[in-house]
Amino acid sequence: MRIVNGLPRHVACVMDGNGRWAAQRSLPRTAGHEAAEASVIDIIDAAHSAGITWLSLYAFSTENWRRPAGEIDILMRLVRRAIRKHAPALYARGVRCRFLGMSDPRIPPPLVQDITDLMALTSENRQMTLTVAFDHGGRRDIVEATRSLIRAAVPAEQITEATFARHLPYPDTPDVDLVIRTSGEQRISNFMLWQVAYAEWVFPQVLWPDFRATHLWECLDAYRWRQRRFGGVRQSTTITGDEPR
Ligand code: IPE
Ligand code: IPE
Ligand code: MG
Repeated sequence: MRIVNGLPRHVACVMDGNGRWAAQRSLPRTAGHEAAEASVIDIIDAAHSAGITWLSLYAFSTENWRRPAGEIDILMRLVRRAIRKHAPALYARGVRCRFLGMSDPRIPPPLVQDITDLMALTSENRQMTLTVAFDHGGRRDIVEATRSLIRAAVPAEQITEATFARHLPYPDTPDVDLVIRTSGEQRISNFMLWQVAYAEWVFPQVLWPDFRATHLWECLDAYRWRQRRFGGVRQSTTITGDEPR
């Protein structure tokens, strides 16, 4: 008999495929970003209903600044519009919203203000923590943690993995259990590098603007059957019986 995994505590999505979704419809890439909003809302609701307490969404990477200025500009406007539209519902559902990254001066100040307001509005919520990785880079977080340790004058021999993790942004964030990257691409793209160290990964072919609750459930089901070993020999939740010894 094999005991399966429970619900992942922390699910993270690399929301990929917006441009290809638009190209398939002979639309500009930004139409894919616009269509992505419905998926984001559907997945927040579905994750919340399923009982997932930590959800992280990769929305804009430090490398995405390499994109054409027009695409970046429209993307920033769409994010701002979505925040203003959905803030009341996020608050009402008990979702605590956080934005991870957010250090580039090119982020338009009105967007920074709306993000700051959303974080303040929802800061007391505890049903689910939604972390939006925006202007995020996993390597940058690691460099920033190193700087923070040096500023705090922590002696080198006192730096352990646990101490280091406390200097990362949002140090209360648990390790990611499951990463979902849509569109079939199979790479990390600099996403939460420290936190995904022992995550399980799934790569659904569906493009992000088509990703809905049913797809999330399929990913959660796939996770149930993963044998997580964390470097050990046998998963602690596995009881041998019908398995070969
Ligand atoms: C993901 O979709 C959204 C962002 C990176 C902002 P893409 O825009 O990367 O879509 P593809 O990969 O080109 O299809
Ligand atoms: C990763 O997707 C970033 C986000 C989903 C926000 P990209 O489409 O930017 O990644 P690469 O360039 O294919 O690695
Ligand atoms: Mg992409």
